Amino acid sequence: MSIQGTTTQIKTASQGYDDDFITLVEMVYGKGFLSQGGNAFIDKLFEGVALNQSKLLDLGSGLGAVDLYLATHHEVEIVGIDPQKMMVKRSNDNLSEVQVHLKGTVSFVLMENPIHLKQFEDHTFDLIFSKESILHVPLEYKAAYFKEIYRVLKPGGEILIMDWMHASPNYSANTKKMMEMDEVAFCLITPAEYTQFLENAGFVDISLTDTSLDHAQISQENIDTIKNLAGKITEQFGESNYLYSLESWGFQRDAFASRELLTGVFRAQKPSLLH
Ligand SMILES: C[S@@+](CC[C@H](N)C(=O)[O-])C[C@H]1O[C@@H](n2cnc3c(N)ncnc32)[C@H](O)[C@@H]1O
Repeated sequence: MSIQGTTTQIKTASQGYDDDFITLVEMVYGKGFLSQGGNAFIDKLFEGVALNQSKLLDLGSGLGAVDLYLATHHEVEIVGIDPQKMMVKRSNDNLSEVQVHLKGTVSFVLMENPIHLKQFEDHTFDLIFSKESILHVPLEYKAAYFKEIYRVLKPGGEILIMDWMHASPNYSANTKKMMEMDEVAFCLITPAEYTQFLENAGFVDISLTDTSLDHAQISQENIDTIKNLAGKITEQFGESNYLYSLESWGFQRDAFASRELLTGVFRAQKPSLLH
């Protein structure tokens, strides 16, 4: 995502989230978060999931807040991976700040290749999760990507994926504008296509909980936060970036509210060897 400004030019590559943009997002979402909803959303996401003594993989760990929060409360072993070196560095910095308070262990490692998981052996993880990251995987690689997730999951293991989707690729002008302004790759698919990819990879017991309207509400709360931080954002990034932020989050809110864009949580199992 990127924002253009007069005071500070913030721009990124197609998967990019640069330092200035991240600073602004953290002001809005909270330290270490590049996705919406904060700790409350993590609690909801992992409700009822047995985490203690589990080995977890976080795909697209960003700045690491999700992993650090989980390891603060559970005896887990988490590997967070991200294809951007800067994310891995910043999440390791965040880790060193809170390490002594963790019940579990966390390591952040560079994803060697954004389209496969060959750096991991078969049947390595009990749970593989991802929050708002797989939307960046190009459409032509999604099928193989879900097969990789299946491969590195232990038999009987589970996936928990919170992601963006769309109702159809025919976007309204405002949604197109939001995507162009944000400059990250939005490689979205429909819930039915997502389910099909998971089925084709071998997953069973697939369920989807739609969270789109929650996200419309959270986007509105983010807009309120941006308004409250108007002085600080304008001072640090310039007025055009402040206005950009309001517009972009507004388009996002409207797209979720109209269900043109969707978010949801997929859960599914890899069959155990007894199946
Ligand atoms: C919106 S951020 C979410 C980060 C984190 N999960 C969170 O909730 O704060 C998306 C992340 O996905 C990462 N990413 C981009 N391409 C990816 C890929 N092919 N596989 C996994 N993550 C990817 C980006 O580098 C970025 O850190």
